[in-house]
Amino acid sequence: MSEYTRLKKPFFVLAPMDDVTDTVFRQVIADCAPPDLFFTEFVNVDGLMSVGRPNLLKKLRFAEKEGRVVAQLWGLNPDNFRAVASQIADGSLARELGLPDGINFSGVDLNMGCPAKSEVKNGACAALIKRESWPLAEQIILATQEGLANHLPLSVKTRVGFSEVDMEWFDFLLRFDLDMLTVHGRTRKQMSKVPANWDLIGQVRQKRDDLGAKTLIVGNGDVESRAHGEELARKHGLDGIMIGRGVFHDPFVFAEQSLWETYTKEQRIDLYRKHVALFAATWQAGERPVHTLNKFCKIYIQGFDGAKELREQLMAASDTTELLRILQ
Ligand SMILES: Cc1cc2nc3c(=O)[nH]c(=O)nc-3n(C[C@H](O)[C@H](O)[C@H](O)COP(=O)(O)O)c2cc1C
Repeated sequence: MSEYTRLKKPFFVLAPMDDVTDTVFRQVIADCAPPDLFFTEFVNVDGLMSVGRPNLLKKLRFAEKEGRVVAQLWGLNPDNFRAVASQIADGSLARELGLPDGINFSGVDLNMGCPAKSEVKNGACAALIKRESWPLAEQIILATQEGLANHLPLSVKTRVGFSEVDMEWFDFLLRFDLDMLTVHGRTRKQMSKVPANWDLIGQVRQKRDDLGAKTLIVGNGDVESRAHGEELARKHGLDGIMIGRGVFHDPFVFAEQSLWETYTKEQRIDLYRKHVALFAATWQAGERPVHTLNKFCKIYIQGFDGAKELREQLMAASDTTELLRILQ
């Protein structure tokens, strides 16, 4: 029984979003209204097991106050999945990240859904959904399970097919006794262009029940609020709900009752100031360039008179000192 089974249902998860859901943004969300589980951005195990490791560790950074954080991995070499999973399971990776003894990741997730060309052309991420890739997908899952040695739960995040919907992909995945399976209700080909198909996500949950598997099923795609997620979980009998882009429209998206609509101009500016200050304190060695903050600006600096002009000023800033001065 994994720790996930103890979460109240439906539990809520912040979706991994590359270059967005780093430890800084997750800490801001944790202070607004925390989900039950966070995921890191996806990190490449082949890179982690190469000389490029120091550069990639920033994607795995997390803070104690975030609570449960799942490390999301992708790559091609099963041996590297085994090695990284083992470093996560025994806590040595968390120590390398500077976390105190006793603080560790809550689990490992395998990315089998990212549709980006750069990953897919090499046969990774969503390409693993293609039937000819199932032997590799199997090796990756088994190697990661070996590395984890039952010390931490293992999950997979995937889509409902590559070019076409392929529900047999889920018969395949449900064989592995995964602790959790996140289903994004679109194929790889659909990218994000069509609405997510929640009936298909419900069908995966039905398969889980029919097979008597213990895997928790998490639905993902276009969820706008906690109430919306609760309704979908009820309708399709799901264990959990993952929300990604919904957080761009409401940093309190995981709250029972979001405060965001009532947030004043001053409170919104204050929240962005907090984000920028934490960014400056966290990435002191320049691990993340200042312009990466621009994508967050619109989350906070909107919904009041003069927001557009203030955003333009903020986006032209060349360092965090200048940003903080403008936000003062
Ligand atoms: C900017 C961005 C980056 C993403 N990066 C990842 C990632 O690193 N790993 C992953 O599994 N999914 C990634 N996704 C997909 C999201 O986790 C999620 O599945 C998708 O956005 C659909 O959920 P939503 O409609 O709630 O946003 C990313 C999505 C976006 C928009």
